[in-house]
Amino acid sequence: MPWLDYKRNPRITHVIQIGKNFFKRCFLCEEIEEWLATASFRSTKHSLMEKLIVHGGAPLKGRINISGSKNSSLPILAATLLTNDTCTIRRVPDLSDTNYMVRILGELGAEVERASGVVVVKAEKIKSVAPYDLVRKMRASICVLGPLTGRLKECTVSLPGGCVIGDRPVDLHLKGLEALGAQITVEGGDIFVNAKKGFKGGPMNLMGKHGSTVLGTDNVMMAAVLAKGTTVIEGAAAEPEVEDLANFLIKMGAKIEGAGTNRITIEGVKELHGAEHMVIPDRIEAGTFLVAGAMLGDGVTLKRVMPEHMKAVTDALIKCGFPIDITKDSITVRPNPNAKGFDLTTLCYPGFPTDMQAQMCALACVINDTSTITETIFPQRFMHCAEMKRMGANIDLQGATARIRGGTVMKGAPVMASDLRASAALVLAGLVAEGKTEINRLYHIDRGYEHLDDKLAALGAQLERVQDK
Ligand code: UD1
Repeated sequence: MPWLDYKRNPRITHVIQIGKNFFKRCFLCEEIEEWLATASFRSTKHSLMEKLIVHGGAPLKGRINISGSKNSSLPILAATLLTNDTCTIRRVPDLSDTNYMVRILGELGAEVERASGVVVVKAEKIKSVAPYDLVRKMRASICVLGPLTGRLKECTVSLPGGCVIGDRPVDLHLKGLEALGAQITVEGGDIFVNAKKGFKGGPMNLMGKHGSTVLGTDNVMMAAVLAKGTTVIEGAAAEPEVEDLANFLIKMGAKIEGAGTNRITIEGVKELHGAEHMVIPDRIEAGTFLVAGAMLGDGVTLKRVMPEHMKAVTDALIKCGFPIDITKDSITVRPNPNAKGFDLTTLCYPGFPTDMQAQMCALACVINDTSTITETIFPQRFMHCAEMKRMGANIDLQGATARIRGGTVMKGAPVMASDLRASAALVLAGLVAEGKTEINRLYHIDRGYEHLDDKLAALGAQLERVQDK
């Protein structure tokens, strides 16, 4: 029976990689089936041809569990390349991005097994080249640069390129590796790193014009753990995901202090060993559901969260007037028809996260007041505004500031998802709009939200995933 369920609903499966082969496992009956993953992982390939139909107006009520963090999982999976021992990573969300990272590890020579949320990696012999074909689909694949450099002292990693939210340079990643003594050339779209002559810790400042860099800090930290001497990163990113990576590296034998602040000190060690780790809850997924609950909730409780990571978002919602109850590991939000508008500016952690900006824009549309949102991390990250305007939103975009006059009646429309968080914001807008909203390019959502539609449906949302003809 469960296998039949799987046949009817292939989404109740997990992708498992054993050596170079891929299998799908039904998580109800545990049966596995060989799967040809030559082109891409199922969730990406599948959702390329799917769209989400949202029927607005159904109130959300109930509890959901928040998944493991995507942005923690990606660098932590990459960090398993730093040892030839076995590493076990738990609560890795089933997303096309994490599946893609699993694939990258396999292509680099690691043995990887994935079953449900558990990924086991043994990177005994690894290759030093990550070509364009391998990294181009996911910008975060750049986080193999640090571990490959740290372990092999030379590598070639192709530049992953920009994306719709901005230019996305890697100059700060390279600046950090150079400060460790690496010689770097960039040619033909490839980064060539050579640290054979010695890889020594030293001081550096990784602060950029838009603030600190998350994956840049991750990369330098992963390279520095195996460098000689002491590395001090000033201007380091303080995001919880950087701290989570540091905690995993410490379990592997690294000596790191100050992760989670803007000054990280790393004392190089000779080698790292295998370790087990459970990734932290996804604060952006949690934030997205909180905003959904504020927009049309009837009491939405998020379980398995770390409220201390979400203070910027919960504070912003409380300031608008939404009642929020916080316990050690849960947050409940309730609606407030008289909520006030807000003025917020995205900043590095502990400031308001850029990854929650689009969702707050959707919230501003339903608050009967004026709100402003200024984006300082990715100043061009406003693609969602044009789509929301098609649904009736009153948004005036001036440079990197959006002024939203809320309270207009939002009407369902076909809209185009442009990036991960923008897509989530369009789903939120669809949940409150009158009638039917069709969200195309669903693969953006499947990159970063584990079963978003199933979780929303569990809260009472009316939505369906359909094939795009
Ligand atoms: C990470 C997150 C992403 C989030 C972003 C900002 C992951 C997988 N992704 O992306 O979801 O939106 O942090 O919180 O963790 N910059 C430079 N030079 C560099 C690197 C970055 O100028 O070498 C700039 C960027 O253009 C941007 C800012 O610094 O303006 C922050 O980018 P960064 O923190 O590096 O983003 P990611 O780590 O790629």
